[in-house]
Amino acid sequence: MSALPEPQEPAQPGADAADGRPTPQHPARIAIEPAAFKGVFRKVPTAVAIVTAMTPQGTPVGLTVGSFASVSLEPPIVSLSVMHTSSSWAVVRTLDTFGVSIVASDQADAVKAFSAVRTDRMATVDWSAGHHGLPVIHGAAAFVACRTRELITVGDHEVAFADVLDLEVLRDVDPLVFAGGSYAVPQPL
Ligand SMILES: Cc1cc2nc3c(=O)[nH]c(=O)nc-3n(C[C@H](O)[C@H](O)[C@H](O)COP(=O)(O)O)c2cc1C
Repeated sequence: MSALPEPQEPAQPGADAADGRPTPQHPARIAIEPAAFKGVFRKVPTAVAIVTAMTPQGTPVGLTVGSFASVSLEPPIVSLSVMHTSSSWAVVRTLDTFGVSIVASDQADAVKAFSAVRTDRMATVDWSAGHHGLPVIHGAAAFVACRTRELITVGDHEVAFADVLDLEVLRDVDPLVFAGGSYAVPQPL
């Protein structure tokens, strides 16, 4: 059995690797302005989804996310990231399962309702309990039933990794995308 390497003294915070490139331990010392960060990520189109869950008391909750993404095919795993300040996520994160309705191009009103400061979001849409009893937003392009596998705090967000329990394309319709600060419909070139 070979000996474990001696622990290394950490280099000075902010120091770069010998080749000049920043390392994960020593990220670039450039201050990134939030406006610059947002300006760049306006150029990154995202899908739009409504995350829903059902409390043990039978109360449905939901919020809009643009961070829903596929992570792994085998096994099927998805992710999303949510601000620590989200009151809806504070509920969803405590539940075992949640649903993700992938929003169709004609559902911008629902997206706005599920990101607005209001308590009656579910009353603004038609929905029903679908896979695993999770609320499905009627008219959605697709639905993914998820079981949370891991929650990780990353900066000011919590990243959720979830196993896919079930999924289904619901409508032959374009998904809504969010790009350049606007809602849009993807057009083939
Ligand atoms: C298109 C769009 C995408 C969004 N994506 C996210 C997201 O990925 N993560 C997040 O925390 N908030 C996201 N939001 C904002 C949340 O929907 C909103 O802040 C949240 O629902 C606030 O309400 P709550 O405190 O009741 O959760 C998005 C909003 C919109 C309009």
